[in-house]
Amino acid sequence: SRLAKKMKIRPRVSFRVNPEIKVSTHTRIATGIKKSKFGITCGEAPEAYKLAKKLGAVSASGIHVHIGSQIIDTKPFAEALKKLVSLSKELKKAGIFLKYVNAGGGLGVRYNREFPATLREYSRVILKHAAGIAPHLILEPGRMLVANAGILLTRVVLVKNSGGVKFIVVDCGMNDLLRPTLYDAFHDIVPVCFSDDRKEDFYDIVGPICESGDVFARRRSLREVFAGECLAVKSAGAYGYSMSSNYNLRPRPAEVMVDGGKDRLIRKREKLQDIIGTVPRRFAKRRRR
Ligand SMILES: Cc1ncc(COP(=O)(O)O)c(C=O)c1O
Repeated sequence: SRLAKKMKIRPRVSFRVNPEIKVSTHTRIATGIKKSKFGITCGEAPEAYKLAKKLGAVSASGIHVHIGSQIIDTKPFAEALKKLVSLSKELKKAGIFLKYVNAGGGLGVRYNREFPATLREYSRVILKHAAGIAPHLILEPGRMLVANAGILLTRVVLVKNSGGVKFIVVDCGMNDLLRPTLYDAFHDIVPVCFSDDRKEDFYDIVGPICESGDVFARRRSLREVFAGECLAVKSAGAYGYSMSSNYNLRPRPAEVMVDGGKDRLIRKREKLQDIIGTVPRRFAKRRRR
C-alpha cells in the first residue's frame, strides 16, 4: 500500500489462501495442506482483506489458491473452491467484492498407470464452483500442458553388473532431470532404437553423478542396450529443464523443439566454459599466467 501510494497507482492484488485440504500427491508438491508454508489460512483471510480495504491504496479484488501439483482427481479442487465460496460470502458481508478467482494449477498427467481427470471433468468442477466466488477466472496449468510434450534423450555410457544388480549408466544425471531423485518420481524409459531379438532384463538406470540418489529408475524391465545407444526418458517436459542445475559442474543439455515435423535448436548445449566463465576476470587472468 505504501509503495502504491508512492507510485501513484492502485494495483489489484490477490491473497493466496491455503484451504488446508488433503490431496493424494507427493507430500513435497502438496501446497494447500495444513501447516503448508504457502499463503494465509481461510481464517486469517478476512482480516487481510479488511486491512487492505482500510489502507485504500490497493484494490484487494482477487483470491488465489493453488493446492499442489500432479493431482489426478477433481475432488480436492472442488473442496478447495468450496472453501473459497464460503470465504467470498463472508467477504461480501463485509462489503468486499471479489472480481478475480485464481484457481492455480495442479491437474496431473499420466507418467505411468495414473488415470488423471480429463480436461472436461476438471473444467466442469472449476466452473461449477468458481462462478460462486468471482466473475473472472484465472488458471495456472503447467505440468498438464507440457509434461508429456518433452523427452530427455540420454546416451548409455556403460552397462555393468555389480553386487548382483545390472546397472545401465547414462550420461544424463539428476542435474538434468531431478524428479526421480527429489520425488521418487516414475518416468517411463525406453530405448530409442530397439530390436525384438534382444532379451529383456531388470536394470537400475543411473546417472554419473557422485550421489547414490542419482537414479532414474530401479529394477526397470528393459530390452538389452549397449554403450553408445540412446534411451528416451519420457514425460520430461515439465519440471525438467526448469529444475535442472549445474551441480557437479555439469553443463546442461541442448533443447530441441520439434514442430510440425521440423526440429529446431531452441537452447544451445552449455559448455564447461559457460559455467566457469562466471569466475571474476581477475581470477581468470591470474590462472592464465
Ligand atoms: C502458484 C503455482 N501455480 C501453478 C503451478 C503449476 O502447477 P502444475 O504444474 O501442477 O500445473 C505451481 C507449481 O508449482 C505453482 O506453485
